[in-house]
Amino acid sequence: MAFFITVEGIDGAGKSTHLDFIAQYLQDCEYPCIQTREPGGTPLGEQLRGLLLHHEMHVNTETLLMFAARSEHLKVLIEPTLHNNTSVVCDRFTDASYAYQHGGKKIDVGFIQSLEKIVHPHLKPDLTFIFDLDPSIAKSRITGERDLDKFEKSSIEFFNGVRNVYLDLAKSDPRYFILDSTQSIETIQSKIKDRLDVLIK
Ligand code: ADP
Ligand code: TYD
Repeated sequence: MAFFITVEGIDGAGKSTHLDFIAQYLQDCEYPCIQTREPGGTPLGEQLRGLLLHHEMHVNTETLLMFAARSEHLKVLIEPTLHNNTSVVCDRFTDASYAYQHGGKKIDVGFIQSLEKIVHPHLKPDLTFIFDLDPSIAKSRITGERDLDKFEKSSIEFFNGVRNVYLDLAKSDPRYFILDSTQSIETIQSKIKDRLDVLIK
């Protein structure tokens, strides 16, 4: 049995802090897994990531490039890995396109729905953790840590739009699991473990 698990949330909400924990817990439960990310995860995808995170472009172009990177990622890495009975823990996936390009940048939701139908009509994550945090707290956690990329420099208003789409998505399907990122790392990890136990046992 192999699982496709994704991790989402606004920038600075705490995804990276918990990715290794999720992958390690699966391994400890004897589910081999790989960790990957979007945009990226393949040599071409990582090149597209460089463009996407550091160059300004029209939101239509940005969305198409996100899905181009995603298509490559699915064909070269995600689908073959799942077929090989190995789980995939992915730092962001299509929910991020709904949240950032629709919720943040206001592209028509139909644009994203159409691309999703073309690029992965059947595959959805088995479980999606959404790290939820007020954008002003998230911004204060990452400011000064490193040089911020194009998305990380966005306004609080932009991130409120992103966050609201994630919260709306979470109401639409039980595969979403919201984690309150104001809680301690230990509390969050205990909730992640409990939710993973529900998935795998
Ligand atoms: P993301 O990957 O979502 O952008 P990070 O995991 O890099 O976010 O976390 C951003 C910052 O917040 C880091 O300095 C991290 O140590 C800190 N952080 C993460 N989770 C928590 C938490 N639950 N409480 C306080 N600080 C946290
Ligand atoms: P991320 O890897 O979380 O950045 P970091 O590790 O530097 O925190 O995500 C890269 C950025 O790409 C993030 O700001 C969200 C954005 N993004 C989109 O706008 N749409 C998408 O479909 C995806 C996958 C990411």
